[in-house]
Amino acid sequence: MRILSRFMAAASDERQFPTTDLPEIAFLGRSNVGKSSLINSLVGNKIARTSSTPGRTRSINFFEIRWPGKPKPEIIFTDLPGYGYAKVSREVAQQWPDFIEPYLKQRAPLALCLVLIDSNIPPQESDLQLMDFLRAASRPFVVVATKSDRLSGNQLTTSMQTLSQTFHAPRLLLYSAKTGTGRDQLWQEIRAAASAFSQPNIASPALRNRGA
Ligand code: GTP
Ligand code: MG
Repeated sequence: MRILSRFMAAASDERQFPTTDLPEIAFLGRSNVGKSSLINSLVGNKIARTSSTPGRTRSINFFEIRWPGKPKPEIIFTDLPGYGYAKVSREVAQQWPDFIEPYLKQRAPLALCLVLIDSNIPPQESDLQLMDFLRAASRPFVVVATKSDRLSGNQLTTSMQTLSQTFHAPRLLLYSAKTGTGRDQLWQEIRAAASAFSQPNIASPALRNRGA
């Protein structure tokens, strides 16, 4: 199914966050892990700018997601600046308290955080710190291992075991923006989180606690 999506706003200050009550899905992770590519792969359109140079995304970028035949958008995706690269980390460290931390702590419509980790590299301290931060902020999150197309079957199994043990992630979703691996499963997670957010009374406790 074709998904209709469009860029909505870029914010590098709390005052620039758009006012909306649609459930938001945030894409988080180290610079270059593939956040913007994952958004483009999910929607089947190049709405988020990608780059082989770490530090491409500098603001929180909001995208409206709408299904054909529906009159209004139903979900918002937010693409966040990456962290953890020596070259860009000082700048991101300065931005973090300015607008990224307030976004993650206070943003009312934030329904789910997707924490992207690279399936090709060993666990990183900065990813552990982010997950600790999200747990402390009581934000549900799902861990997504990106660039799975770069590993063979055996390498992938070993890497997934190490990553899930280190991050204490009950389960990791595998993804490749190149081949589309994991796309349907990730959409299921996103839609479940969005509908639980829109109908809080029937949300299952299991879903709300996932990742915590
Ligand atoms: P920042 O905005 O700098 O934080 O980076 P980002 O996390 O948004 O990464 P981005 O999507 O810009 O991708 C970084 C690089 O990884 C680009 O060269 C992408 O082509 C590549 N890449 C992203 N996803 C995949 C994937 O699934 N497979 C492969 N092989 N390469 C990927
Ligand atoms: Mg990006």
